[in-house]
Amino acid sequence: MLNNKVSSLINEQINKEMYSAYLYLNISNYYAEKGLNGFASWFRKQADEELEHAMKFVNYLHDEEEHVSLLAIEAPKHEFKDYKEPLELTLSHEKYVTSLINKIYKATLEVEDYRTTCFLNWFINEQREEEKNAHELLTKFEYLVTDAKALHQLDDQLATRK
Ligand code: FEO
Repeated sequence: MLNNKVSSLINEQINKEMYSAYLYLNISNYYAEKGLNGFASWFRKQADEELEHAMKFVNYLHDEEEHVSLLAIEAPKHEFKDYKEPLELTLSHEKYVTSLINKIYKATLEVEDYRTTCFLNWFINEQREEEKNAHELLTKFEYLVTDAKALHQLDDQLATRK
């Protein structure tokens, strides 16, 4: 059994990870509808990863014999003013998710639940990677996309990126 605050934060985090999947699926749909299939494919992969994150938390609660409470998933923003806006949103969202993971981490330390602290280490590292990727993509877009040709070159690169 986990401390109540820790289990409640993990339950909330399942919802945040599911929302992240919604957010990235929505961005993927946006780019697909604009004919930018590389961007669409990249964001579809991000959405799949977010579902995996949610399931890691679900499985952890099961392993600890805790109840899983699924909350309503907020609808993501549907309209974007230009191709860059979803990339900015992604970076700010990942920073927000990092702050949430840090909050759970801190709670585990306060109650000396070091097993959950260890479990969260994977997410601490993952957030570093996700922020780096989001930052890199935004930077590439800002510096490289000067015309339609450059945009489609970046789109082609993203189509093959793992
Ligand atoms: Fe699961 Fe992108 O944070």
